[in-house]
Amino acid sequence: MKEKELDTIINKYGADPSEIMGMLLDIQEKEKYLPKKDLQHLSVKLGLPLTRIYQIATFYEALSLKPLGHNQIHVCTGTACHVRGAAGILNKLEERLGIKPGEVTSDLNFGLKTVNCVGACALGPVVVVNGEYHGEMTALKADRMLKRLMKN
Ligand code: FES
Repeated sequence: MKEKELDTIINKYGADPSEIMGMLLDIQEKEKYLPKKDLQHLSVKLGLPLTRIYQIATFYEALSLKPLGHNQIHVCTGTACHVRGAAGILNKLEERLGIKPGEVTSDLNFGLKTVNCVGACALGPVVVVNGEYHGEMTALKADRMLKRLMKN
């Protein structure tokens, strides 16, 4: 990210080091991950040790030091979704994307993850795509959804 854009984010939070989480989330929303040079800039501007920023960035699952993919797909593999066929959905997505959970496609268009429960068990199996919940998912529906996303 350009330093000017980064400074805009920092100033939005009053350059307050206690607001570091909000700044990191804003950077990630824009960049799809937390680039090293952005964290170095934050460290200088906020007077926070870089090691402290890395501690935060690695502690929270919502933050990532690696590119996340333009489209983020989370397959719920919690118990309720598992018994309703989450594994078959995950297999279909892995096969179609050519990646495993925790990986990103080489064009950075898709990232795939599994989650334990997204709190919508009654709708299971659930797949969350870019923050949007898709319930009663099947491998066939997941395949169609992926085709639509690939066209965009
Ligand atoms: S187990 Fe999947 S939403 Fe709860």
